[in-house]
Amino acid sequence: MHILITAGPTREKIDPVRFISNRSTGKMGYAIARQAVALGHNVTLISGPVALTPPEGVNFVPVESAADMAQAVHLHAPSADMLIMSAAVADYRPAHPVDSKMKKQPGALFLELERTEDILASVGKNKRADQLLVGFAAETEELEAHALDKLKRKNLDWIVANYVADGFGNDTNQVILFNRNGEKFPIPRSGKDLIAKQIFEIITAVS
Ligand code: CTP
Repeated sequence: MHILITAGPTREKIDPVRFISNRSTGKMGYAIARQAVALGHNVTLISGPVALTPPEGVNFVPVESAADMAQAVHLHAPSADMLIMSAAVADYRPAHPVDSKMKKQPGALFLELERTEDILASVGKNKRADQLLVGFAAETEELEAHALDKLKRKNLDWIVANYVADGFGNDTNQVILFNRNGEKFPIPRSGKDLIAKQIFEIITAVS
């Protein structure tokens, strides 16, 4: 199979030296990419800026912003059999990024932000029946309700949900998989490589 994986954070430019981003390390997405290669799949890894070395054998596409990531995903999605979107894409970006370094002024600074494209939702809208779409949900409360809402709203086949405190930035994780039939598959706390292995096992066994 050709598997497209997104990973890591995105960076949204304020000026040449500043950006808005988040705490994603890319560890979960890279573990999924490593596992997909080990299973013999053809893997495209579209990654925001992280401190990790791309797994050997992937087609590596480095990107910076949500807009860059969207462009890369739309380019590679049509040939993908399975898409696993683990990136922590910024939901907002500065509406007016500037090319010269902003100088400080007296008083407060107000930054206007505008929405970025919801890449997962647009892929979900254009998804073919032969494509399997897997999203992620990192929540701080009401994990199951938010995850199921995202699964339906974004037209996903599967969603991998976890509490932010459990996985974000950590070497281990603890997740629950939900599918379109409302079935629920908890994966207990373990290293991200083992979590990635079990994600593939569950999806392959049940899809
Ligand atoms: N995602 C995406 N593009 C975005 C935002 C999110 O593709 N601009 C994807 C992520 O890769 C992840 C899923 O959507 O697979 C969940 O993202 P999240 O931000 O948690 O979901 P939202 O629908 O934005 O919900 P909210 O911000 O209200 O929690």
